[in-house]
Amino acid sequence: MQIVDLTDDKEHIDQVAELLKDGFSDTGTVGWSTDEECLREVRDSLGEKKISRIALDKDNNIVGWAAGAPLYENTTWELEVLVVDREHKKQGIGSGLLGDFESEVKIRGGLNVFLGTDDENYRTSIGGDELYPDPLDKLRFIQNIGGHPFEFYKKRGYAIVGVLPDANGIGKPDIFMSKRLT
Ligand SMILES: CC(C)(COP(=O)(O)OP(=O)(O)OC[C@H]1O[C@@H](n2cnc3c(N)ncnc32)[C@H](O)[C@@H]1OP(=O)(O)O)[C@@H](O)C(=O)NCCC(=O)NCCS
Repeated sequence: MQIVDLTDDKEHIDQVAELLKDGFSDTGTVGWSTDEECLREVRDSLGEKKISRIALDKDNNIVGWAAGAPLYENTTWELEVLVVDREHKKQGIGSGLLGDFESEVKIRGGLNVFLGTDDENYRTSIGGDELYPDPLDKLRFIQNIGGHPFEFYKKRGYAIVGVLPDANGIGKPDIFMSKRLT
């Protein structure tokens, strides 16, 4: 596998948009369900100061994509999207892209990576639950009940640092995670 910058190449942009649409088609994610939304997201990732990286297999097919942008000046970067082609999951590509994203952040002088990982279809123990009045109470004991990616990030050294209850509708929280790059 090779990881390189996504460039303004129409064929690559179309492939990544398709990967994004398919990759989130069964997560309940709102906003990346049409071709137009996905193309816009991919094109936005090429903006100034952003990181947009693709993983290529030995035949130069795109098998994964990671993109993000700085938050809090340059200190903390948000990983805005990470997706691996469904036929290539569980082969280390997501880990490779995440490690590469962290390296790119370090090169730019960043100290932390932050991300939000939504639970829109009740794949964790806090999805569908009432988190108020003390959201952190239930967050502390979160369980993965349906292959939610928060566990993938935990394995890569990310800590759960917060939650926005009802971020995507009642009972559909966004789980915040971060990692210090030292
Ligand atoms: C989440 C995702 C990027 C992981 O990519 P991947 O290439 O399959 O991950 P890796 O092969 O590098 O897995 C690394 C480890 O995490 C584990 N893992 C991967 N996905 C997981 C999941 N959904 N739940 C629990 N563990 C998971 C793997 O089993 C592996 O564990 P091991 O080191 O003990 O063997 C990929 O499944 C994906 O694109 N999902 C759809 C889009 C998505 O949800 N993106 C994240 C949004 S925040």
